[in-house]
Order: sequence, then C-alpha cells, then structure tokens
Amino acid sequence: MKLLDETKKYHEKVMTEPLLIQLPKITDPRGNLSFFQNNNQIPFEIARTYWIYDVPGGEARGSHAFKEQKEFIIALSGSFDVVLNDGEKEIKFTLNRSYYGLYVPPMYWRSLENFSTNSLALIVSDKNFDSNDYIRDFQIFKNRKGCIQ
Ligand code: TYD
Repeated sequence: MKLLDETKKYHEKVMTEPLLIQLPKITDPRGNLSFFQNNNQIPFEIARTYWIYDVPGGEARGSHAFKEQKEFIIALSGSFDVVLNDGEKEIKFTLNRSYYGLYVPPMYWRSLENFSTNSLALIVSDKNFDSNDYIRDFQIFKNRKGCIQ
C-alpha cells in the first residue's frame, strides 16, 4: 500500500513538470515511422489535435498559459523552440526530431518561437478548446502561481 502511494506521488510529481519524451521509432529502409496513442507514451488521454504551420520568419505563437489543459508538442517537420516559464525561471526546449515530444503541464507560461522554414508543430491536448482556460497576462499568471513580486 505504501509502495502504491509512493508510486502515485512520483507520477503526480512527474505530471507537474515538463518532460521531453522519446517516442517509438520504427526504422525501415522504406521510411521511418513513429507513433503515440492513448494510455501509452504520453501522460494523458488525447481530446484534441491542432497544428501550427506557415509561420513567417521571426514570428512567435503562444505566449500564454493554460489553467488546466496539458499538452504534448512535437516538431513533425523542421525545428522550433518551446520556451516555458514557471513564473520564476525559464527553460528552452529546442524540438527538431519527429520522434521526440515535449509534455507541457498546466500552469506554465509557454511560447513557441524560432520556427525554421516549413516547420510543422503538432500539438495534442487533453481538453477540447476552451478560451476560459487561457491566461494571457503574464502578471496574472505570476500572481496565480503565487510568485513573490
Ligand atoms: P491561440 O491558442 O490563441 O494561438 P496562439 O496562442 O498561438 O496565438 O489560438 C488562436 C486562435 O485559434 C484563437 O482565436 C482560438 C482559435 N483556436 C481554436 O478555435 N481551436 C483550437 O484548438 C485552438 C488551439 C485555437
């Protein structure tokens, strides 16, 4: 019982931190294949998929946080940076392989930037689109995180 509690605690902790996840890669002379599916590879059940493409040079997407939704972000093609801020410190993840994805927990300020030409960002989320789940003001985000001003 104690072990189960410890394991649960470990998973809860992991779920609250960003995580770069390596996906299966089935190499084949005909071309490689990678995948993820519900209840495996990524730490949530998928409700929605969207993608960002045709990003003009120098543009950034995002710059907001989600109160509840979790995301998994993959550079299906090309490369870009995912910049995450927990209210106190910033971490930058460069995504440039289609068999790696970044798990982004709720309540991280996140921005996608430095897109290469023809890059394609695939994003899966555990929630349907809900504009009320967005925090678009960094100061409000920091206050909600309980950061000392
Ligand atoms: P948004 O998430 O604000 O993009 P970014 O943070 O990169 O600027 O989404 C831009 C617009 O697209 C916004 O009007 C909401 C709409 N949208 C949907 O309708 N469904 C979705 O799943 C997403 C992600 C956005």
